[in-house]
Amino acid sequence: MAPLVCSMKASASPIYRLKAFPSKHRILPAPAEETAVWSYAGRVPGPVIRARQGERLHIGFENGLEEPTTVHWHGLRIANAMDGVPGLTQPPVAPGEHFDYEFEPPDAGLFWYHPHLRSSEQLARGLYGALVVEERDPPRVDRDLIWVLDDWRLQDDGAIVGNFGRRNDIRNEGRLGNTVTVNGKRLVDFAVRPGERLRLRLLNSANARVFALRFDDLTPTVVAYDGQPVEPHVPEDKRVVLGSGMRAELILDMTGDPGAQSVVVDDYYEEFEYSFVRFQYSRDKPLRESPLDAPVRLAPNPIPEPDLTKAETQQVLIQGGSQGSLEEAIYKGQTYGVRELWREHRKIWTINGIAAHGMVMDPMFTLKRGNSYMWAIKNDTEWDHPLHLHGHSFRILTRNAEPVPHTPWADTVLLFPNETAEVAFVADIPGDWLFHCHILEHHEGGMGAVVRVA
Ligand code: C2O
Ligand code: CU
Repeated sequence: MAPLVCSMKASASPIYRLKAFPSKHRILPAPAEETAVWSYAGRVPGPVIRARQGERLHIGFENGLEEPTTVHWHGLRIANAMDGVPGLTQPPVAPGEHFDYEFEPPDAGLFWYHPHLRSSEQLARGLYGALVVEERDPPRVDRDLIWVLDDWRLQDDGAIVGNFGRRNDIRNEGRLGNTVTVNGKRLVDFAVRPGERLRLRLLNSANARVFALRFDDLTPTVVAYDGQPVEPHVPEDKRVVLGSGMRAELILDMTGDPGAQSVVVDDYYEEFEYSFVRFQYSRDKPLRESPLDAPVRLAPNPIPEPDLTKAETQQVLIQGGSQGSLEEAIYKGQTYGVRELWREHRKIWTINGIAAHGMVMDPMFTLKRGNSYMWAIKNDTEWDHPLHLHGHSFRILTRNAEPVPHTPWADTVLLFPNETAEVAFVADIPGDWLFHCHILEHHEGGMGAVVRVA
């Protein structure tokens, strides 16, 4: 984003200026109005921030909102002081104030940034953007596309429905919208050239919606999840499933004929299947006769490999929500029946029996720096939870006790109702890190914990 780089330091590391402020953005066509949003740099999504692996990035953030905020760099394994969690890693940035974020992203891939204060409202109003760390040697493609997926809860006149933190959204599946956007626009048709190879980088920035994109007559090859390379593979049923916060990078050969169409369907919510995008092939002659014969595998990132022979196993139990079996929970050190906890504090979710209050808490675990850990996570609820760990990527080893193919690295693992998963990682960056459900209303309703690495 050239216009944002307004100065170069002596070290020649780019300085981005990033300001959050209220602005207008057209989502629905006229006669609806432009939607009043909160945005980074006046755009939704915010500008794509591009960085080079291992090189210092300096982002001068300014808060032009009327309330405090912070910026969290989702998925980046950077120093704790730059993680953007208010109270835990930095003070909130008050209206009119600045905060300098400076870090060296160690991994190449697709990451993103968003507020971490009143996030269920701040993200839903439009504050989010992609951050790409470029590979030294990217795979050969014809086009490299970033698609930031969101869904909005809009009135017919284009205004955002203001019922943030609504009872049913906290207790059930989170704030689902009624208007899906890609890069801030409703997407119906997308023009492609027959024979071209796309790199399609998908990011789910929605508060709660899960996307399940089914490619049918195309064959998506997944090369990375959550910014981390994975053995190139075609996912089961040619379906890419992304919970809130998650990313997938695909290599997609546009194999249709000139003038043809390829439809990608989102079939996640039963009975709400819709056509997510229609690739429209131009009438040009195919760019090439057969798909490009160039390697697609990405070079691995420098993540420490957990030592499973030495890893300590820790249990992580997710409970609560409506229709849950949870009876009591600890909140601020006191035991409550779930009903009174909801009535008095609007908390209904727990991790290991504790409902979070805000972001600052006693650690759930204290991990020894450099040691390997395995978390056996159990979703003992009737709802989906994309569970996100800050500052670390873990390997997803099993799901429901079955080995997961390619044991991908991830920073977020999506657990369906009553599922279990085992993930392993090396606790290698010191500090207090958040672990929470990325359904932002669930986090607000208590599904968060702090993990200390010391
Ligand atoms: Cu995407 Cu705790 O964040
Ligand atoms: Cu959740």
